[in-house]
Amino acid sequence: MENLLEVQDLQKVYRIKKGFFSRKNFYALRGVTLQLKKGEILGIVGESGSGKTTLAKVVLRLERPDGGMVTFRGRNIFAQGKEYTRHVSVVFQDPRASLNPRMTVREILEEPLLVHGIDERERRVKEALETVQLGDDFLERKPEDLSGGQRQRVAIARALILEPEVIVADEPTASLDVSVQSEILDLFLELKKQGISIIFITHDIRVVERISDRIAVFYGGMIMEMGEKEGVLGKPLHPYTRFLLGNVPVRHPSERREEDFVETSQEIPQSGCPFYPRCPEVLEECQREVRRAEVNGRIVTCNLY
Ligand SMILES: Nc1ncnc2c1ncn2[C@@H]1O[C@H](COP(=O)(O)OP(=O)(O)O)[C@@H](O)[C@H]1O
Ligand code: SF4
Ligand SMILES: [Mg+2]
Repeated sequence: MENLLEVQDLQKVYRIKKGFFSRKNFYALRGVTLQLKKGEILGIVGESGSGKTTLAKVVLRLERPDGGMVTFRGRNIFAQGKEYTRHVSVVFQDPRASLNPRMTVREILEEPLLVHGIDERERRVKEALETVQLGDDFLERKPEDLSGGQRQRVAIARALILEPEVIVADEPTASLDVSVQSEILDLFLELKKQGISIIFITHDIRVVERISDRIAVFYGGMIMEMGEKEGVLGKPLHPYTRFLLGNVPVRHPSERREEDFVETSQEIPQSGCPFYPRCPEVLEECQREVRRAEVNGRIVTCNLY
C-alpha cells in the first residue's frame, strides 16, 4: 500500500523549568519514525505524557519539530502551502472547546469552505452532515443545543468538509460516554470504508483494538512497538506493551479500582530506554542505550531483541 504520510526520525524538545533559575531539555518526541498508508487506520496508543498530542501537533503543522521530517505524498509538509490543510484535517478530544459556541452548525461547516474559496457550499455542508448521520434540522443549531456525541459529529463533519485524504483524531472519544464512544468509533470505521486514512490517537488499548489496522505503542516520546494489530495485541513483544495489556481500564469510571490507574512517571529518563525504571526485564545496558529492531515485520525498541 502507498504511504501518504511519512514521519522520519522526528524530535521535539521543550525547555522545561528545573529549579528556580535553571531549565532543562525535555524530549517530547525522540526519534519517531512511522508511515500512514492509504486507506488504513493507524492507532497510536500510550499513557498520558507519552508524546501523542505532540506528534499530532507536528503533523498538523501546529508545532515545528526540532529534528527529523514529515512528508505528505513525498513532500515536506512545512514546504507546502495552505492546500495541505485541505488534505490533512483534525478532530480534537473536546468538541466543546473546538467548536465556536457563537456559530451555528451551518456557519461552523461553511467556514473552511470560505477560507479556501470553495463554492457549492450548500451541497457540501449537507453531504458532510449526512455522512455523520445528522439531519438538515441541525443546520441552525448552536453547539450548546447539542449533546456531546452530536457535537463530536459536527466536529467530524467539519473535518470532512474539505474532503481530506487524512484525518488526525486526537482522543476523539475520550470526553464521551461509553455508548456514544462506540457510535463515534463506528463512524470512523465508516470513514475508513470511504477511503479516508486515519491517525487515531487514544490512551485506551480497547479503543485501538476496536479501530486500528496497525498500532504504534508510544512511551516517553518513542515508539516502543509498532505493527499489525493482531500481532501487537495477540503476541506483544515489548515489555511495555505487555504491561499496557495488563492494565486495561475497566468499563465504567465508577467500577474502577485503584490499581487500574496507571501511574505516570514524572521522571522519564532522557537517554537509554525510557521504560527502564519500570521494566521488569531491565538489562544492565538499558540505562545507557536502547536498540531498535525489526522482528517479523514488527518494529520493537528494546534491547531484548
Ligand atoms: N508546550 C510544552 N512545554 C513543555 N512541555 C510540554 C509542552 N507540551 C507538551 N509537553 C510535555 O511533553 C510531554 C508529551 O506531551 P503530550 O504530547 O501532550 O503527551 P500525550 O498527548 O501523550 O499525553 C509531556 O510530558 C508534556 O508535559
Ligand atoms: S530496553 Fe531494557 S528496559 Fe527497555 S523495555 Fe527493553 S528490556 Fe526493558
Ligand atoms: Mg494528548
